[in-house]
Amino acid sequence: MTDINDLIKQMTLEEKAALCTGASSWTTTPIERLGLPELTVSDGPHGVRRVANVSDLISTSLPATSFPTASCMASTWDVDLIHSLGQALAEECIALKVDVILGPGVNMKRTPLGGRNFEYYSEDPYLAGQMAASFITGVQSKGVGTSLKHFAANNQETQRLTISSEVDERTLREIYLPAFETAVKKAKPWTVMCAYNKLNGTYCSENYRLLVEILKEEWGYEGFVVSDWGAVHDRVASLKGGLDLEMPGPRDRRVKSVAEAVRSGEVDESVLDESVRRIMRIVFKAAETSKGNSFDINAHHSLARRIAAEGMVLLKNDGILPLKDQQHIAVIGHGAEDAHFQGGGSSHINPTLVDNPFKELQKLAKNAELTYSEGYPAGSTFDQKLIDAAVINARSADVALLYVALPDSIESEGYDRSNLDLTPQEVSLIKAVTAVQPRTVVILNNGAPVVMGEWINGTAAVVEAWMMGQAGGGAIADVLYGKVNPSGKLAETFPLKLVDTPAQINFPGGNGEVRYGEGLFIGYRYYDAKEVPVQFPFGHGMSYTTFSYTNPKVSAVTFKDKDGLTVSVDVTNTGMVVGKEAVQVYVHDHKSELVRPPKELKAFTKVELQPGETRTVTLALDFRAFAYYHPGFQQWITENGEVDILIGASSADIRCIQTVKLESSLDLPSLLDRESTVREWMEDRRGKLALAPLFQQMTAQIKAAFGGGEEAGMDTLGFLMDMPLLGVLDFQGSALPMPPEDLVDGLLAQVRQN
Ligand code: GLC
Repeated sequence: MTDINDLIKQMTLEEKAALCTGASSWTTTPIERLGLPELTVSDGPHGVRRVANVSDLISTSLPATSFPTASCMASTWDVDLIHSLGQALAEECIALKVDVILGPGVNMKRTPLGGRNFEYYSEDPYLAGQMAASFITGVQSKGVGTSLKHFAANNQETQRLTISSEVDERTLREIYLPAFETAVKKAKPWTVMCAYNKLNGTYCSENYRLLVEILKEEWGYEGFVVSDWGAVHDRVASLKGGLDLEMPGPRDRRVKSVAEAVRSGEVDESVLDESVRRIMRIVFKAAETSKGNSFDINAHHSLARRIAAEGMVLLKNDGILPLKDQQHIAVIGHGAEDAHFQGGGSSHINPTLVDNPFKELQKLAKNAELTYSEGYPAGSTFDQKLIDAAVINARSADVALLYVALPDSIESEGYDRSNLDLTPQEVSLIKAVTAVQPRTVVILNNGAPVVMGEWINGTAAVVEAWMMGQAGGGAIADVLYGKVNPSGKLAETFPLKLVDTPAQINFPGGNGEVRYGEGLFIGYRYYDAKEVPVQFPFGHGMSYTTFSYTNPKVSAVTFKDKDGLTVSVDVTNTGMVVGKEAVQVYVHDHKSELVRPPKELKAFTKVELQPGETRTVTLALDFRAFAYYHPGFQQWITENGEVDILIGASSADIRCIQTVKLESSLDLPSLLDRESTVREWMEDRRGKLALAPLFQQMTAQIKAAFGGGEEAGMDTLGFLMDMPLLGVLDFQGSALPMPPEDLVDGLLAQVRQN
């Protein structure tokens, strides 16, 4: 075992500073004399983008499997499958000599306009955290590292390198940090990548509270923090802020500034040593995995096909799917011949193979006649002739399959969408085809929600195939012909229209900042709270079979928060074909001091059931499943009271409810102070005890002053309740036995004693 501390003692200041900045776009600085090799990193997150020359920032990368992107991965709701994906990515990293893959991306989908939503998992932090943890453990199980990104609150592309995400503490803790927290605590990613943006005015790359106090101290993170590429503005400030490795390199000027800062005493050498220690720990760990050889292209292609099929969401089906013995099938859409399977930017992979959707369909269609029409061009131009030809094709067919893919340039890193629309050509095409062919199936290739109101009613079925990866063409054929029974469920709500979305009024911000004004209420949390109808809800997805949920049980009707709870339910496949079901468990708090979303996902699992088979599914709910973050106490808290455990097939399809009684084990301090209102005193357990005699006296005086009847003075009392106690006492002036400040301080002392 290399004694890293001993090595650090042997290093010169220049060597230490050099180690903390990249030697090239994708490698760290080796120190041969100390036997420290370089570390090679590559994007991620759904394929290995290994450029041949590590000095090239962007160039054609070596062939690798283009797996389905994160929005598809999350829609599988299958953590074991994502673990397998991680292992396959690690095998490709080893073959391509990559030590760390720059993924997963776990930023919350605050708005469906996010240009990189295809690269992220969900609008729900619990689902995203579980997906990320399984991805990380999968990759790292093979001795390859990961980079959990982009830490934190990087939820839009617009001005991403300079904008400040203005997020209140509770929203940060409950929505934008938990996926990172779960992944860090559960899977220990070798590296964490800090985001470009500012968080509440301070760049993430130099945000001490974020990188040191929360990530390293509170969560106990032991890996190293790497900057997003070009996210460092002031290397010395970022070193002090907890950023260990600046990328890309080389940045000689930056290296010198660090050495000078240590020499001048601006930065204590121990701070630099800590970053050096963290980086070296990972470099030596990576070196333990020998690199080279090759990977099984076909096996990984098959895995990519399986994941794509598992992530596809059957949004609508009037029974036309699965296809059976239709003899004449109109296959319409540019996307049927030219698969749209990934997004733009740093995640863009050079695929080993790419399925042609039409050809893959042909293989399963056996002796059916398939007639192709392009329907729409590669870009966004309008061409009515293509629509007219498609209509003729569709009219005479038994069924029309419309492969509708967003143009390549629409969804990418670096910019957000300006709307949720398909192209005008695509909308016109769907409407024209469904007008003559009621048996029309729309297959979508997009990374994030599109609005469907203009055309969906005319369709017989809609399959969300996502950015499905290189094997998506085959996966679509598998699902359409029922070789795979679709089991995907939405990890992001599909809204009816853009203006309904929670972030819309604050997006994309201005004057250098974007206010997260919707707070906790993103995604289904918002649509539930405001009772806003949606096109398809979070967690929705159909199957070719049906499932029943019966016999719900909880391990206790009354329970202590720290003991948690298990909930079980019998799930039965009540249909005729084998199928998989993602069972979801949400928690609804009946009453809380601070506002909470109506329901929140806190557990899920996926089960495969034969026709007629019943399985008892049991899920554990721990303290955090019931807790919320209270900024006054600066911690997660639970409160005594009733809680509903909602078991559902989606957030809007709750099948069973179990109501339980939570007993909090917390003994929280009082938050009362000199400014607290009378109401706050009376709602505080200790405050009420201390104030009771005085409050009683005050109430009696007010009643007497208004004639003494039952209702006498109640409006005045109501008026006084939301005044600071100190102010109310001040009104009584000379009638008090001592100055009101002393009186309140005395009461506060009593409260603190109890
Ligand atoms: C990019 C992305 C990040 C990527 C890195 C290296 O700007 O934000 O996700 O890993 O730079 O390409």
